[in-house]
Amino acid sequence: AIRLPLVVANWKLNGDRQLLTEMVQSIKELDAEKVETVLCPPYVYLNENTDGVKKGAQSVAIQESGAFTGEISGRMLRDVGCQYVIVGHSERRAMFGESNDTVAKKVLATLAAGLIPILCVGETDEQREAGETIAVITEQVKSVLDVLPNYSDSIVIAYEPVWAIGTGKTATSEQAEEVHLAIRKILAGYSQELADLTRILYGGSVKPDNSEELFSKENIDGGLIGGASLDVEAFTNICKNAV
Ligand code: G3H
Repeated sequence: AIRLPLVVANWKLNGDRQLLTEMVQSIKELDAEKVETVLCPPYVYLNENTDGVKKGAQSVAIQESGAFTGEISGRMLRDVGCQYVIVGHSERRAMFGESNDTVAKKVLATLAAGLIPILCVGETDEQREAGETIAVITEQVKSVLDVLPNYSDSIVIAYEPVWAIGTGKTATSEQAEEVHLAIRKILAGYSQELADLTRILYGGSVKPDNSEELFSKENIDGGLIGGASLDVEAFTNICKNAV
């Protein structure tokens, strides 16, 4: 494949230093030439030494610096060794009021700091029932790509159907592949190179026993893992299934 599989652990508001240490011990044994792995623990753990295992943040400030109490900038994240930032996760959109416009600004802030954004998109249950899935995804992807100054900047997209997050309900591999293919076509509308190189991850109740089937699909290049990323053995096995 031209795209190196990528598996990202999104710990959300979970985990501690001990889990990070144990996870790093397990993940560093994987063949990094065959699967790229990124750990996204809460901000306070990003300064820990992860022995070469890549780190990402779960969000980032729009602003570069200044009087923005509680915020963390892209430059700070880079300073402590992060390479990725998850942007626009559905929990941030739903619970912290992040609009497509906010998400686009965060993607720009991420790129400006020399980090790679993992742009999350996904439809709700109601939107899927109403047949709006592709329209919702298209708007979420385009609202970011339309403001990118140049498409050669590396980005990652994560498709996470909101109804599959933390619910135990996974999209079938066919349902996921259909949306991943649609996203790749949207990317091709900007440039074929962007479509060929951009990794599109699936997220939503990925477990060791459904990951192999999902990752076997042509347009699914890896996963964004929530619950199962808090278990060393489960997460390691998911990474192995992406090889
Ligand atoms: O970022 C991860 C996703 O929200 C998936 O979470 O694996 O717990 O369903 P989950």
